[in-house]
Amino acid sequence: MNKIFSPGKIGGLQLKNRIIRSGCFEGMCQNGQVTDKLIEHHRRLAEGGIAMTTVAYCSVSHDGRTFEHELWMRKEIVPDLKRLTDAVHKEGAAVSIQLGHSGFFTSKGVIGKRPLGASPKLCVFTMSYCREMNKKDIKEKTADFVNAALLARSAGFNAVEIHAGHGYLLSQFLSPWTNKRKDEFGGSLENRLRFPTMVIREIRKALGPDFPVLVKMNQRDGMPGGVEIEDAVKIAKAFEEAGASALIPSAGFTSKVPFLMLRGNLPVKEMSENQPKLMNRIGLKLFGRFMVPEHKYEPLFLFEGARKIREAVNIPVIYIGGVESLGTILEARNAGFEFVQMGRATIQDPDFVKKLQTGELTRSPCDHCNRCVAAMDAGGVYCVSNEVGFLE
Ligand SMILES: Cc1cc2nc3c(=O)[nH]c(=O)nc-3n(C[C@H](O)[C@H](O)[C@H](O)COP(=O)(O)O)c2cc1C
Repeated sequence: MNKIFSPGKIGGLQLKNRIIRSGCFEGMCQNGQVTDKLIEHHRRLAEGGIAMTTVAYCSVSHDGRTFEHELWMRKEIVPDLKRLTDAVHKEGAAVSIQLGHSGFFTSKGVIGKRPLGASPKLCVFTMSYCREMNKKDIKEKTADFVNAALLARSAGFNAVEIHAGHGYLLSQFLSPWTNKRKDEFGGSLENRLRFPTMVIREIRKALGPDFPVLVKMNQRDGMPGGVEIEDAVKIAKAFEEAGASALIPSAGFTSKVPFLMLRGNLPVKEMSENQPKLMNRIGLKLFGRFMVPEHKYEPLFLFEGARKIREAVNIPVIYIGGVESLGTILEARNAGFEFVQMGRATIQDPDFVKKLQTGELTRSPCDHCNRCVAAMDAGGVYCVSNEVGFLE
């Protein structure tokens, strides 16, 4: 128990135990606003014993959004974010925010213009064809990341988590599947790393040496032509060198293999029912099973790749993927992971960490039905199969 419930450090931040809530899109930011529901969600997680909670995907600019009910960082929302961070701190936990940009799979309907991407590409989910980012765009988006990180710190966040995985914009530059550029930002791995490492380096420069900058990345994209573990190890080293305080090696590509990061049941029926657009509802219902591959769940399903990254760097590596019990946390800790991130176990029950500590539970009852993923599309993530967790 001491290995799990003893303090640990990320950069200059001391956390009270080794369990962090991973970024799980809450679907609670209607019109891009911080709502009381979002604040209560994270306060409740903090009360439940987590060392640090993470506000999920917050776009660094308006043009990085996929959904209407998604946050984007700007000065106007800092006072409300401050209410959120205060509420979490009062419960004795720390709070981080995930900063990213959706790149080619942003929704044209939401951002009001053509999406940006590493190279021109059609997104079949949003049916939009992105424009290749030019050098001015790259400079502008780097500045947006830096500005968002500074605003997050001014709102009281204890850490920022840069999203460089799951097929988001930085991941689109890293992946040869989406990056076909012929300039210094495409081609070799060194070139594909240029924009993501520039973002991390500039954020580090702006925030100073101690502020925790976590980076979520892919150990594997999951489709032919994507990033594989050999490149991921080099990417991890480059992120460490650019100034990351800790790495979170996940997997999957939202627009292509979204369930590789989750595993388990594919809730096609529920996902299609919750789509705001009729075309998407019909499309998902008819073709969902063919468009979205299913992947079998097992505990610690990303362990081997994460271990290779753990061996390659000197900064803390936070294990993510199938952490569901005391045994799995201990296994991760024994393999040298300084922290773990948990998603579904804490959606199923926000008191899960407390219950592990008191001995009331040793394993999460979550059965990976993944209907929480469908629920987030409809306006608020919660566990559909039980009543101990968050209310609808
Ligand atoms: C409802 C839901 C929403 C998620 N949203 C995000 C997100 O916004 N950003 C992200 O990086 N990962 C997201 N994820 C993935 C989780 O952070 C995590 O990588 C994944 O659930 C595996 O961890 P677990 O086995 O502990 O659930 C989401 C997962 C779920 C279940």
